[in-house]
Formats: sequence, C-alpha cells, structure tokens
Amino acid sequence: MHRRSFLQTLAGAGVFSISGCGSRRDLRAAFVTDIHWKSSSETDPHLDRCADALRAAKPDLVVCGGDLIHRGLLLSEAQAMEGISTMKSFFASLRVPCLFCLGNHDLFGAFPEDGSPPAPDPRRLYREHFCGLDTCYTQTILGRTWIVLDTLELLPVPQRYRGFIAPERLEWLDKKLSETDSSLCVPVLHVPALSTLPSATKGAYEPVPHNLILHNGAEVVKIFSRSRVPVVLQGHLHVSEKNEWQGRTYLTGGAVCGAWWNGDHHGTPQGFTLLHWRGHNLHTEYRPFSVS
Ligand SMILES: [Fe+2]
Repeated sequence: MHRRSFLQTLAGAGVFSISGCGSRRDLRAAFVTDIHWKSSSETDPHLDRCADALRAAKPDLVVCGGDLIHRGLLLSEAQAMEGISTMKSFFASLRVPCLFCLGNHDLFGAFPEDGSPPAPDPRRLYREHFCGLDTCYTQTILGRTWIVLDTLELLPVPQRYRGFIAPERLEWLDKKLSETDSSLCVPVLHVPALSTLPSATKGAYEPVPHNLILHNGAEVVKIFSRSRVPVVLQGHLHVSEKNEWQGRTYLTGGAVCGAWWNGDHHGTPQGFTLLHWRGHNLHTEYRPFSVS
C-alpha cells in the first residue's frame, strides 16, 4: 500500500488525521521522542499531562522519534499489543498528522523474555500500526519533506542491536536529497549521527558504547553536509542538545520519559521539542511538562 493511502486509511479509522496537508511557510512541529510507555497505571497519568502540553503548544504536526514502548524488544508480539494500542490512542488524541520513526525498543518480539519464539520480522508490528510499508519513508506535509530513517540493525545477544543505516538506505537518502529542494527537507533519526553526549559525560577518550551513536554516523553526516538540510532530528539519548556542524543543526530531542520516568537525564526533564519555522527561520524550544 502506498504510504499516503496508508495514512488516509488510518485517518479514516480515527487513528490520526492528515487534514491540513499542503504547502505553507509558517510551521509548528512537535518532536516527541522516547516515550517508553511501561503500563497504564505507571505511565498513563504522565501521558495525559504530556498530551495537554502538546495540545497547548498547538503544533501543525507531531514527529515521533521512536521508543514508544519500554523494553518492547523483550516482549512477545502479543504482549506488545496493549502498549501499541495505548500509543495509537495517545497520538490520535492530538488530532494532527503524526509521523513515526522506529526506535530500538520498538523492535517488538525480537528477543522475547517469556520463552516464546522470536518474531520472524521484529519491524512488522511497527510498520502495520505506525508507518506503513517501510520504516524508511518520506512524507511531505505543509511544504516540508520529512525523511524518516531506520537507524537500527539487529545483532545476536548480548548486543541485540546497534545504530547503523544500511548502505542501500544511505544511497536512497542521498538520492532523495539530491532530487528535491533539500533546504525544505527534515531528516528524522532515532539513533543520532552526531552528539556531544559521550565526550560531555564520560570524557573524550573513553570508548563510546556500541549502541549509543550510529556506527556509520560520519558517512551519514557527510551526506547531510552535501545537502542544504537545515536541521536533523535525533532521539535515543534522552537529552536535549543542539550541535551546529557544517551549516546545519543536529538536534537531539530529549525524552518524554526523561530518565525512563525517573526524573531528569543529565539535566533534561520530561518533555518534547517544539520547532517553529517562519519561512526559512527556525526557532526551537524544549518544552518540559509537569509529571507531579
Ligand atoms: Fe529511549
């Protein structure tokens, strides 16, 4: 199914709306990443506050940076369904178009801890419920083209995964950026291509853990540097940071759950990032929400 048809089908089912798609210069987008839903009793009251804060911010669209369900990769596909349906209701309640980028916790059924056999395709449920045919896709909404990338490669236990964009996906990205006005493109990644977090917290000479930053991040950065992309959205690290490198901003969007619903993480509280374009001028702001 074509992605647009997929979105319209979901919209028709009340999952989310795509009304308002078209071309416009002024745009407000909320980058909502790393929710880590745990259970109705633990997480839903926080989600209600997050939804209130999101509605108050009046975004034209919401971009989700992945990690919807905490430890989803350790659940069986059947166990993941409660969280999936809660997440679908949460995003539908925002009543704006929503785009979804795959997170490592969203590889549902990859390594089930209940002894059930691993899912043959741990991306299947995420595709079926959130992003359609492929976990890499583009969508043009309100005059900007969002390029959503799959930044994950599954590995055997104990590593389970690493941040990596497959070579054929990089070719696809390069082609997309060269055949369109890349100044209006916004790439979305779960695992970051570029971050100061490792050197800021552990020191520049400590080895970076295998699952923190893209293994081929330098290649990805090189592709972006050849383009006019103004900003790259990144999740995964649960910190709010902005790095300027070769003319563009690498923005890591904090986390809705902060430190996995246990306060802030390296000074970043529970929240989301609001991006406001007026023409080509972009203003970004991290919006914490109360969890008390
Ligand atoms: Fe996360």
